[in-house]
Amino acid sequence: MKQIIPIASDHGGYEMKQYLIEKLQDGGYEVKDFGTHSADSVDYPDMIHPLAKAIQNGEYPLGIILCGSGNGAQMSANKHPHVRAALCWNVELARLARQHNDANIIALPGRFVSKETAWEMIQVFLTTDFEGGRHEKRVAKIEQIG
Ligand code: RB5
Repeated sequence: MKQIIPIASDHGGYEMKQYLIEKLQDGGYEVKDFGTHSADSVDYPDMIHPLAKAIQNGEYPLGIILCGSGNGAQMSANKHPHVRAALCWNVELARLARQHNDANIIALPGRFVSKETAWEMIQVFLTTDFEGGRHEKRVAKIEQIG
């Protein structure tokens, strides 16, 4: 059965999202596109919150979000319990986000990375396991804010 990858962006990440959707489908993944569906200006929380909610609810294990800088998308997603969205701009950060932080969403700066780097990051993010061990209790503490 094909793994379903949810993806969402605003207009700043739209072009990169469309590119990644094609690469994901060519790579054998199924994609759930949370929008946006054109390059027209939109507000990133409108697309990011529904995707993050689906991750929060356990509908998908891993997801991809984009905006121009990646920051607004990441900030919106990280408002959701059980969501750990990591802003990544190179392959090593994408790998570490999974290995050390058990990130369940990767946030990409659509305007500041090349398409090749973005696709490489996605492949690494989707195929790297959490290391557990010493990172287990650190990740558990992320939600202990009180
Ligand atoms: C949109 O112009 C831009 O502000 C947005 O994509 C993002 O970078 C926000 O964090």
